[in-house]
Amino acid sequence: MGRRKIALIGAGNIGGQLALFAAQKQLGDVVLLDIPQKEGVAKGKALDLEQCGAILGYDATITGTSTWSDCAGADVVIITAGIPRKPGESRDDLVGKNLPIIRNVATNVKEYCPDAFVIVISNPLDAMVYELKRVTGMSRAKAVGMAGILDSARFSLFLSRAAGVSVKDTRAMVLGGHGDSMVPVPSACTINGVPATVRISEQQLEAIIERTRKGGGEIVGLMGTSAFYAPAAAAIAMAESYLLDQKRLLPCAVYLEGEYGVNGIYMGVPCIIGAGGVEQVVEIPLTEQERAALERSAEHVRSIVQIVERS
Ligand code: LAC
Repeated sequence: MGRRKIALIGAGNIGGQLALFAAQKQLGDVVLLDIPQKEGVAKGKALDLEQCGAILGYDATITGTSTWSDCAGADVVIITAGIPRKPGESRDDLVGKNLPIIRNVATNVKEYCPDAFVIVISNPLDAMVYELKRVTGMSRAKAVGMAGILDSARFSLFLSRAAGVSVKDTRAMVLGGHGDSMVPVPSACTINGVPATVRISEQQLEAIIERTRKGGGEIVGLMGTSAFYAPAAAAIAMAESYLLDQKRLLPCAVYLEGEYGVNGIYMGVPCIIGAGGVEQVVEIPLTEQERAALERSAEHVRSIVQIVERS
């Protein structure tokens, strides 16, 4: 059996980190693609990462390119192409800039990688993955968005610090759109099965939820551009679950067909990822408050999708 092929569209900060994680985890050979003006960056990062393998001990081939045919036949495509946020910008502010980019990428995915499992990271996430699905005509099983794992990681970290326990034992879930309307789900937070509220006060929890909602913006404010280590780790968890048929239950942006009372948009929900892609959307019980917050989040996502549809 040949090696698997992972195409990374966008050789920026997240793209480079995705390549490193994919190579370290021996998921397959990596193609790092960017626009012709940035081909040197893609090729330079690829070479640097291959040399890194000589030290760390992985032997993946990493190719930098601006030629889409180099991505042909990829098993997994991860899309980070687009302009990241600057301080003070919301993810939604990026819709005008990133829409033409995702449309161009989607056209090429359709032509060169029609059978791949495609993970979108570009923002505004829920609208960009919606557009990818629309342009490619892909099934919801194969076209998915990364956000919930990242937002849940932020939630988990803040919870574990407040509770004074290892983040390894902290389980947290964030659903809904990947924006300020995201829905941290306190009822799904546990410390290895023990309700997190045993170690965290109501007041602490409220502050943590607020910090989680603004977690991406906090980092943009600190370094002037978007986070990349945790976003890359999150997308690699999804790719790995697909390639190794792990059937992990992960919160991802999935095209909803009535689940959670939502139809025809992408939004973060728990799903099972295996060799079939998104094999199942899992509906979990929510409190009345959580359900109302999810409905508000869906409305917000819908308003951004309407901008995309009109453009
Ligand atoms: C963030 C970007 C990846 O939340 O959306 O950091």
